Amino acid sequence: MKKIIIAIDGHSSSGKSTMAKDLAKEIGYTYIDTGAMYRAVTLYALKNGIIADGRIDEEKLRKALPDTHISFRPDEQTSRPDTYLNGVNVEKEIRGMEVADWVSPVAALPFVRKNLVAKQQEMGKAKGIVMDGRDIGTMVFPDAELKLFVTASPEIRAQRRVDELKAKGEQTRYEEVLENVRKRDYIDSTREEGPLRKAEGALVLDNSNITPAEQKAWLMEQYNSVVNE
Ligand code: DC
Repeated sequence: MKKIIIAIDGHSSSGKSTMAKDLAKEIGYTYIDTGAMYRAVTLYALKNGIIADGRIDEEKLRKALPDTHISFRPDEQTSRPDTYLNGVNVEKEIRGMEVADWVSPVAALPFVRKNLVAKQQEMGKAKGIVMDGRDIGTMVFPDAELKLFVTASPEIRAQRRVDELKAKGEQTRYEEVLENVRKRDYIDSTREEGPLRKAEGALVLDNSNITPAEQKAWLMEQYNSVVNE
């Protein structure tokens, strides 16, 4: 069966990562979470004093980028890919609120995007990948055989994020999370470099009111229709 690239873009907390992971598992593809890559760079900047006193030292970050090695390795128990930064598992840390607060401005920096897009294109060269992010169908793989644009209302996405954080033992206020979701939507879709927008030819999936099972069935239908073309 022919191997393809599946590019999934969409708003934060639209459920696209879970969807992309499950799809990759189902069809035996490699899943690549590009948001985790931007988060890992942000974590590096926070830990190394590159983000301090409420600002990003862009020159320092530019110089530090060659020292940030990001990889994915499957968790032994869940077999889901965990994010590693310079050999250390940072999966939990990159999902916290501090990284969430800083990741959009970091991801808006052109030299950060250039660096990570090149890494992503390298990772997808052999096809057989499901990659999710904001600019996968528009910038990273504009020729992907299957492109999806996933969304849901900000309120539903904020509630999902609150539930996710709660499950990890982090207490947050719904209003605070909703504000963070809205702020990130705004920054992600108005930045100059690789703004979040629906790629040409992408199929739109609004999952505000559909069940995970319905979503999965729809996805498999789209995948099958492309590989059996
Ligand atoms: O998908 P996520 O919430 O983990 O993404 C974290 C941030 O990274 C989000 O603010 C958007 C940004 N991002 C991006 O600019 N380009 C990507 N391909 C993936 C994520």
